[in-house]
Amino acid sequence: MIGSRCFESTIGGSRLVFRSWLSVRCHSSVLRLAVSSAMAMWMASTAVAGPAVTLGVDPLTNGLPGSGPLTVGEIQTWLSDPANHEVLDVKLPLGMSLGQTQMKGLEQNPMTRAKIELGRQLYFDPRLSADKSVSCASCHHPQEGFSRHTQFGIGIQSQEGGRNSPVSYNRILSDKQFWDGRAGSLEEQAVGPIANPIEMGNSHDACVAMLKEIPGYKLQFEKIFPDRGITIDSVGLAIAAFERAIVTGPSPYDYREAFKRFADLDPEDLADMKEDDPELYADYLNARKLVAENPMSESAVRGQDLFFSKRVGCSNCHVGANFADEQYHNLGIGMDKESPDLGRFVVTKVEKDKGAFKTPTIRNVAFSAPYMHDGSLRTLEEVVEHYNKGGTPNPWLSDKMTPLKLNAQEKLDLVEFMRACTGSFPQIASGRLPE
Ligand code: HEC
Ligand code: HEC
Repeated sequence: MIGSRCFESTIGGSRLVFRSWLSVRCHSSVLRLAVSSAMAMWMASTAVAGPAVTLGVDPLTNGLPGSGPLTVGEIQTWLSDPANHEVLDVKLPLGMSLGQTQMKGLEQNPMTRAKIELGRQLYFDPRLSADKSVSCASCHHPQEGFSRHTQFGIGIQSQEGGRNSPVSYNRILSDKQFWDGRAGSLEEQAVGPIANPIEMGNSHDACVAMLKEIPGYKLQFEKIFPDRGITIDSVGLAIAAFERAIVTGPSPYDYREAFKRFADLDPEDLADMKEDDPELYADYLNARKLVAENPMSESAVRGQDLFFSKRVGCSNCHVGANFADEQYHNLGIGMDKESPDLGRFVVTKVEKDKGAFKTPTIRNVAFSAPYMHDGSLRTLEEVVEHYNKGGTPNPWLSDKMTPLKLNAQEKLDLVEFMRACTGSFPQIASGRLPE
């Protein structure tokens, strides 16, 4: 992490030379890390061809231009452009880019503009549900942090589930889905809610039959999945491709991290750099500007130190580009109930997994209250209190959970840090569905 942090935008092209120029002034271990991350980037970039796009930045999820329902004519024109079927060479924006070599599912389900757009339509289309009232966005709405501010998911006929809606962004760095990881992939996850009686309440067969009745969908599926046409699997592939395109952009934390490689340079170094490498100097100026425009408060900076410290250790689990280890831990949430949700255990039947749930991301977490698998904590302050007391005692509590003895200021600082992990969201059109 440290290596790629330090050399984020210097990898590749003419700047290779100056990577070592800078590293003389950094530590020597950084050079080794930079070389290995450059190798990893190179290996990843040779695996896919096609036009490069940066997720969360390039307009992949904006829908087709215009307004109102999508007509068959518009869809035909869209599908007839070969550029919309080219496999995209996917890049992640600053911050998430630390996970560039860990993207999931792209080989099995390559991303194209046409597939992402089809997935976008399906995601927002309530016709996929039994009574045409509920879409994926009903519980993972862009305006509610891609989750929902209710304690539990609310499906057709206002039925309530037993778990809180997690966020549907940054899924590209995550393979197993759901709080208990019971879906092995995003594709498998995407078709689950359609047939879940308390979510969209439909059957897969009825959903497929409905889609076949809509000419705009029929055309798209036949062109995008020539071997399959409309099947529930192709529905899953399209929705997953759209979800992988929902990647969140840099936060104040990321801008500050990206600037760190320049932070120790003295005026003399900077003068040398300006003369020897104007391009790198321009990078420096840009990074400095971005930090100034997206500042982290002193409290947030202290919170960051706590978050990553050995003493507080949030980063024992909230780690990596998406602040999530993709593992399952028991924090004791809901374990004081009479018959607690046993989480991962229900999937694995392994004793130690009792009450363990998947670590969620910290990115943009300020937008997705309430928190935890059961939505039982209403604010980030309450979350910090839960950690401060060392979780809720139970026989399977993670050994990483111990009382933290945080003072009032430290608690505030941790919350401030989490707020500083708020980045930009991609533009997403929720309208324009096939007529
Ligand atoms: C009725 C509300 C509701 C609807 C509708 C719904 N979801 Fe969910 N979603 C949830 C809840 C609740 C969970 C967590 C369930 C669990 O873990 O058992 C979840 C989990 C997920 C996850 C897993 C995220 C993670 O971190 O593991 C993804 C991705 C997702 N939903 C996408 C979708 C898509 C795509 C659709 C439409 C096909 C959809 N959801 C429809 C409520 C809903
Ligand atoms: C042992 C691993 C672990 C450690 C250490 C840890 N977390 Fe978590 N975190 C998780 C898991 C797992 C969940 C979900 C638990 C559940 O729902 O039962 C979670 C949930 C959260 C949530 C709620 C997110 C949401 O979308 O609902 C926040 C916020 C959070 N943690 C912040 C922190 C902070 C701050 C620290 C340090 C004080 C920390 N975590 C330490 C594993 C951990």
